[in-house]
Amino acid sequence: MCGIVGYVGPQRAQDVVVDGLRRLEYRGYDSAGVAIVHDGELVVAKRAGKLANLEKELADRPLPAAHTGIGHTRWATHGPPNDANAHPHTGGARRIALVHNGIIENFAELRGRIEADDHVFLSETDTEIAAHLVELQVQSGVDLPTAMQRVCQQLDGAFTLVAVDAEDPDRVVAARRNSPLVVGLGEGENFLGSDVAAFIEHTREALELGQDQIVTITRDDVTVTDFWGTPVEVERFHVDWDLSAAEKDGHDWFMRKEIFEQPRAVADSLIGRRGVGGLLQLDEMRLADEEIRDLDKIIIIACGTSFYAGMVAKYAIEHWTRTPVEVELASEFRYRDPIVDHTTLVVAISQSGETADTLQAIRHAKSQRAKVLAICNTNGSSIPRESDAVIYTHAGPEIGVASTKGFLTQLVACYLLALYVAQVKGTRYGDEINEIMGQLEAMPGHVETVLEQAESVYELARAHVDARSVLFLGRHAGYPVALEGALKLKELAYLHAEGFAAGELKHGPIALVEDGLPVLCVVPPRGRDQLHGKMLSGIQEVRARGARTICLAEEGDEKIVPYADHLIRLPEVPVLLQPLVAIVPLQLFACELASALGHDVDQPRNLAKSVTVE
Ligand code: F6R
Repeated sequence: MCGIVGYVGPQRAQDVVVDGLRRLEYRGYDSAGVAIVHDGELVVAKRAGKLANLEKELADRPLPAAHTGIGHTRWATHGPPNDANAHPHTGGARRIALVHNGIIENFAELRGRIEADDHVFLSETDTEIAAHLVELQVQSGVDLPTAMQRVCQQLDGAFTLVAVDAEDPDRVVAARRNSPLVVGLGEGENFLGSDVAAFIEHTREALELGQDQIVTITRDDVTVTDFWGTPVEVERFHVDWDLSAAEKDGHDWFMRKEIFEQPRAVADSLIGRRGVGGLLQLDEMRLADEEIRDLDKIIIIACGTSFYAGMVAKYAIEHWTRTPVEVELASEFRYRDPIVDHTTLVVAISQSGETADTLQAIRHAKSQRAKVLAICNTNGSSIPRESDAVIYTHAGPEIGVASTKGFLTQLVACYLLALYVAQVKGTRYGDEINEIMGQLEAMPGHVETVLEQAESVYELARAHVDARSVLFLGRHAGYPVALEGALKLKELAYLHAEGFAAGELKHGPIALVEDGLPVLCVVPPRGRDQLHGKMLSGIQEVRARGARTICLAEEGDEKIVPYADHLIRLPEVPVLLQPLVAIVPLQLFACELASALGHDVDQPRNLAKSVTVE
């Protein structure tokens, strides 16, 4: 949520900063801005709307050449997305320019204090106060890092702040609390970014900042301290993906590219999981067998798409391990006084690893002595850093705001976790675990098979551009798939879409069904006789009321044929693994329908990729 960039080095700062913002635009696209230091003065350009607006402004009126700069792409929290609220913000004397990601919770109180001293504010943001406060500090004679420390000590909330001082042109100073910040280490130049995509074009060597830390970058030096000025050691890491992973590779949308990357993402997330004697191993797991054996309960917390992955996980974990599982929205978890103790494993699922609701939920869980395991796609991000254990997914960078390959790889990680717990607790025999692993290893091929039908799904999607409402039905592990399919359509096509457990329909939602309503139905495999039969009944009920049914059913399922206005075939896989293939046509459907409606598929309105505010 909001992307920030900083640069010091020999290149033209405007170019490096704007390139970085382009790769971070998925984090927010309400406005964009850049500030450079030139001849002892700040030069600031900022525009409401997408980065393209700022780029046009800079093409017409380029900033002077400078070697130090900061930039920001905004997802609005305080104040509407207009030019005045765009970052960077400056202090009253225009000596400090500053960008911010997060929310400064006590901004009103701080602002009230200095407004009394005739400070004039030009925006409605919570950020501007930080620019004024840092400026007051440097005007009192301290250097920029010290000024930043003193200001951070006064701030409440979540923030990454990045600032430049017109009178100190060779350094950029940044601070981090509850919001991401990474440093890119170059040769004779250094970078700051909300994530490594900001500088991957220039360097793949990086530092991850910890909580409550301040970093100062110059061309040749990087210094990290805490908020009180004490030097701290930070870990260096190498980024193992390259620029092409952050490019579209000939696809019109990142989302479409990412849907097609899913066979590889699933395969990568399975690599290296079988150890000696075929035993399942999760190297980065860091939970002792004893701790797993002692578990009484698992609580999965997550938001949005990751929450639906958690719902699928419940079916698998309970079935394979006989351990009770609760799945809860992270934003609700800590506010209801949940029953959690040292025998509870809390599993936090997050693609970005920065979702504030999930982060706060794991902090609550830890305060109750629960063990926390993160399932995450972003190396070194806050959620895995604060967890006791982690299973990394290997989706690669997900740029499209709507999660796709992130979801599939989360499912894989959940299956692996379930099997691992089953292995340690002895609730499944080695042969069974091996067999399921074999089935999982066949999934990349199955996903590929589904993708081969993309053209017919696109055709179907284009035939629905006039739809006003779409329902999704599923049962068992197909129920979260229905919810996820509906979410994809809501967020991308801005359509009313609802997912239901098929059995629940007759308890109310069936009243929504009217002539011509499209209903997408995830049909369970025939191997699960009862489930399959019940689903068919549900489909007949909606058809009887005029719905047009689009059925996702496995190859060879002939019973479904009379009940489907349109049929999408899925490979034959076990019911618990079916979400891995069933969601793919629904992703393709939403992507194409949104595209046909002329929407920006990668940057849907009002959304941001990484939701770092509660
Ligand atoms: C929907 C989507 C969101 C995220 C949610 C959690 O397509 O992407 O619903 O799943 O914001 O994000 P993470 O997984 O990063 O915690």
